[in-house]
Amino acid sequence: MVPMKFPSISILVPSAIFISVTLYSFHGYLLSSDDNNTKPLILPEDANPRDSVRKEYPGNLTSPSSPSSGGCDLYRGRWVYDPVGPLYTNSSCPVITQTQNCQDNGRPDKDYENWRWKPDHCDLPRFDPWKFLHLMRGKTLAFVGDSAEVPKNRGSKRMHRWHFQSTDTMIIRIWSSWLVHRTDDPIGLAPKDVSKIHLDKPDENFMELLASFDVVILSSGHWFAKRSAYIIDDNKIIGGQLWWPNKTQKMEVNNVQAFGISTETIVSAIANHPNYTGLTIVRSFSPDHYEGGAWNTGGSCTGVTTPATKLVINEFTNAMHKQQVEGFDRALEKAKTNNNNNNSGDKLKLMDITDAFGYRHDGHPGPYRNTDPTKRTTRGLDGRPPPQDCLHWCMPGPVDTWNELVMEIIRNEFQDPANLY
Ligand SMILES: *[C@@H]1O[C@H](CO)[C@@H](O)[C@H](O)[C@H]1NC(C)=O
Ligand SMILES: *[C@@H]1O[C@H](CO)[C@@H](O)[C@H](O)[C@H]1NC(C)=O
Ligand SMILES: *[C@@H]1O[C@H](CO)[C@@H](O)[C@H](O)[C@H]1NC(C)=O
Ligand SMILES: *[C@@H]1O[C@H](CO)[C@@H](O)[C@H](O)[C@H]1NC(C)=O
Ligand SMILES: *[C@@H]1O[C@H](CO)[C@@H](O)[C@H](O)[C@H]1NC(C)=O
Repeated sequence: MVPMKFPSISILVPSAIFISVTLYSFHGYLLSSDDNNTKPLILPEDANPRDSVRKEYPGNLTSPSSPSSGGCDLYRGRWVYDPVGPLYTNSSCPVITQTQNCQDNGRPDKDYENWRWKPDHCDLPRFDPWKFLHLMRGKTLAFVGDSAEVPKNRGSKRMHRWHFQSTDTMIIRIWSSWLVHRTDDPIGLAPKDVSKIHLDKPDENFMELLASFDVVILSSGHWFAKRSAYIIDDNKIIGGQLWWPNKTQKMEVNNVQAFGISTETIVSAIANHPNYTGLTIVRSFSPDHYEGGAWNTGGSCTGVTTPATKLVINEFTNAMHKQQVEGFDRALEKAKTNNNNNNSGDKLKLMDITDAFGYRHDGHPGPYRNTDPTKRTTRGLDGRPPPQDCLHWCMPGPVDTWNELVMEIIRNEFQDPANLY
């Protein structure tokens, strides 16, 4: 490794946060308000730098000699209690989405912040922003995907960039709810107000930028619960979600199958792109925890303060995960057998967090979605739960683990001397 100067803490902490924010919370934060021009990230002063230093290397878990995850299954393991807690707090991080700022929204418990993922056969190092930036020196990483929430700046503001000058690292966030092509115009019986999801065509908005990326992280799934018509061959309707004009005719695909097809389409398109040789990470389906019902039928995660000791079976999550993994595997197989591309498949990675996060029913905002002091946070006398969010994740919280996993995947890829360039 190239010797490095220790970067100032004002770089370390906000970048950790920033990466957390972009990785998980795709809510269209604008640190740079310009879609086309790159501006350096403006780093806020940290309220308590010494506190941050202490938090940055708690117990020195991130030592350069941390065992390599090469050959270790990062996704099989357990959550272990770690009182050291997260790298940032709601006060040191200026860019937490309010709906996920659980502490500021009045969530009374905090222990959900103090669990770390421990793979069975190796350790997952703490996220190290300094090392991350070094590994990504001169490189561009793009987060491409969804959120269950509509960003305020919808429309032209579909892409945001952040530039870290110290290492010339670019981080880009591209909004793409389904990862495949979407149109509004009527097709056959599908009217204008139903989104047309073209399952066999990748989303051109980011495919045209793909060649300029070194790492792409894809996240999707929850938008397949939205009202849509599923299309192939430009105009053939093969299914729908919350929309189907002719009940006597059977759909060829439902929304879960549509998710699998879309995954195969986008991963194949990336693998076959003639000018893209980067690393592609597909984050697996993020589970929700409306236990005892659905979001609108009394399901709840209210009052849950520790990870589950036993995985609660969620059939929708399992079905989505299965379709996604199968779609990914089909794309991977094709990439391996196709000699005409530059990606033999070894740069396609599945970041398979679904099971691990199935245990984290304690990590959602629940009723703590806003600062309203009069909001209902407990069940009513009739036993009905308060309005709540058991889909997104509190920040800080379990999702910070995603950064650690991405870091590990990138480290394995870029730190291997054979791969250094
Ligand atoms: C962590 O490493 C630093 C620098 O090597 C050292 O000063 C500090 O005592 C270590 N902390 C712990 C808890 O081992
Ligand atoms: C952080 O959370 C605490 C409660 O734990 C709250 O008093 C404070 O206002 C929050 N700060 C920010 C900036 O959200
Ligand atoms: C509905 O689908 C059935 C079966 O394909 C077909 O026989 C019928 O004509 C369709 N009805 C309409 C109104 O399109
Ligand atoms: C790949 O790069 C070549 C040479 O710059 C260019 O002509 C071609 O259009 C590119 N293909 C795609 C799909 O971007
Ligand atoms: C992709 O492979 C083709 C054929 O082997 C080669 O000509 C081309 O330069 C490669 N492109 C990149 C970006 O490596």
